Order: sequence, then C-alpha cells, then structure tokens
Amino acid sequence: MNKTQVANLVDKALEAQKFAYAPYSKFKVGSALLATGGQIFTGANIENSAFGATLCAEKVAVGKAVSEGKRDFSILVVVGDKGQLIMPCGSCRQIINEFSPECLIAISNEKNEIDFRIAKQSLPDAFSLKA
Ligand code: THU
Repeated sequence: MNKTQVANLVDKALEAQKFAYAPYSKFKVGSALLATGGQIFTGANIENSAFGATLCAEKVAVGKAVSEGKRDFSILVVVGDKGQLIMPCGSCRQIINEFSPECLIAISNEKNEIDFRIAKQSLPDAFSLKA
C-alpha cells in the first residue's frame, strides 16, 4: 500500500460522500474499502426519519463487499464532513473486526489530512462468539 493508492481511496471516499443521504444530521460521510484482490467498495451514510434505521457509510461499504463475496479487507478509508477526521463508530468497528481485524483504518478529509489506526486496536476487548 503506497501513498498514491491511499490517495486514490480517499478520492473514492470523497466521491461516495457526495451521495450521502443525511437530511437530519447534515453530516455527510464517505467510505472506501479495499478488498484483497483489488476491488474497491464505497459507501455513504443513509439516514432515515426513524433515526435508528440510519446506516453508517462504513456499514454500507462492508455490506456491499460481503454481499459480493469479499471478506478480507486491507484498508478502510473514512472521510468526515466539514473537514473532520472521524473514526468509525463502535458498531462499525465491531463489523470491521468481524471480517478483518488487521484492516488499516484511514481517517481523512477533503484537505488531505490523514491518520491511521489498526481495526483491532481500535476495539479493545471486542465481543466475539466462538463460531
Ligand atoms: N456516521 C457514519 O456514517 N459513520 C460513522 O462512523 C459515524 C457516523 C453517520 C451516521 C449519521 O448519518 C451521521 O454520520 C451523524 O451521526
């Protein structure tokens, strides 16, 4: 994973962010998930007037990937609104950890600021059921 590849994923996440449906919070989030094999899955948050039915951008991207047979992820890029660097919420961290605990999480914005975490380190003492 080099800088150009990460920059390309940030661009994809920013593109996806434009499709966010966030009339309630007015906070648009975009994501781009790179699966091993090279396929990229994007996501945007999709809100609902029943607020609890809202989908985070990361959940949308992971859901697209898993429903197309991809479960191994090398990097998840998340871009927050208004220049904010935002980490995935706890529920999204749990979902990422289910499939790829070693996945790199890159948090970025339209100003090209970026920070990195490792999925499993961002969810200490994670819940897990032995399958
Ligand atoms: N949101 C995400 O899409 N990802 C996160 O990790 C945190 C929050 C969305 C949900 C909601 O539509 C808006 O941001 C404000 O919480």
